[in-house]
Amino acid sequence: MAKIGIFYGSSGGVTGAVAEKLEELFEDADLINMEEDFDDIDQLLGYDILLLGSSTWGQGDPQRDWVDPLYEIESDDVDFSGKTIALFGAGDQETHGEHFVSALGKMYDLFKKRGAKLVGSFPTEGFTYEFSLAERDGKFVGLAFDDVNQSDLTEERVEKWVAGLKEELGL
Ligand SMILES: Cc1cc2nc3c(=O)[nH]c(=O)nc-3n(C[C@H](O)[C@H](O)[C@H](O)COP(=O)(O)O)c2cc1C
Repeated sequence: MAKIGIFYGSSGGVTGAVAEKLEELFEDADLINMEEDFDDIDQLLGYDILLLGSSTWGQGDPQRDWVDPLYEIESDDVDFSGKTIALFGAGDQETHGEHFVSALGKMYDLFKKRGAKLVGSFPTEGFTYEFSLAERDGKFVGLAFDDVNQSDLTEERVEKWVAGLKEELGL
């Protein structure tokens, strides 16, 4: 059976709450908080399927606990071929609509370049923003949610994403 790891970085707990929901919905998945439980890149490589969560900060940057690991993956050109990755993360489309959930786009490019298969795109319908690095071909590269402005929609977005993702993964 494929090993599933849910790794997340979350400063205020929004992406963390979704990560915990994902742990419930994916049986036998491990939940790793990047701030407290992350050891090294080999820990990521110990899984076949990776659900990677990050909120967006600064100018469309990944959450702070991801900064060093992502830098290491890039500088050491770590090989993720054979790994399947799905991304999820919180943003704020009103105050930060110039870079809504852009961290997911940066992570998408990084892991794709290193051979991973990226799955779990999500419709942009229902969101209003100016620009997002996470939007490709009219869809987000992963699950986007916005608890600052649309917290009432997060649960149904998570459930919809997971249903599609399970189908895509053949689970
Ligand atoms: C200083 C600052 C910068 C932010 N930058 C962005 C951004 O570029 N894009 C975005 O979508 N959200 C941005 N946000 C919003 C956060 O991503 C949002 O509050 C999110 O819910 C945080 O999730 P977390 O609790 O999982 O860390 C920013 C928030 C702050 C306070």
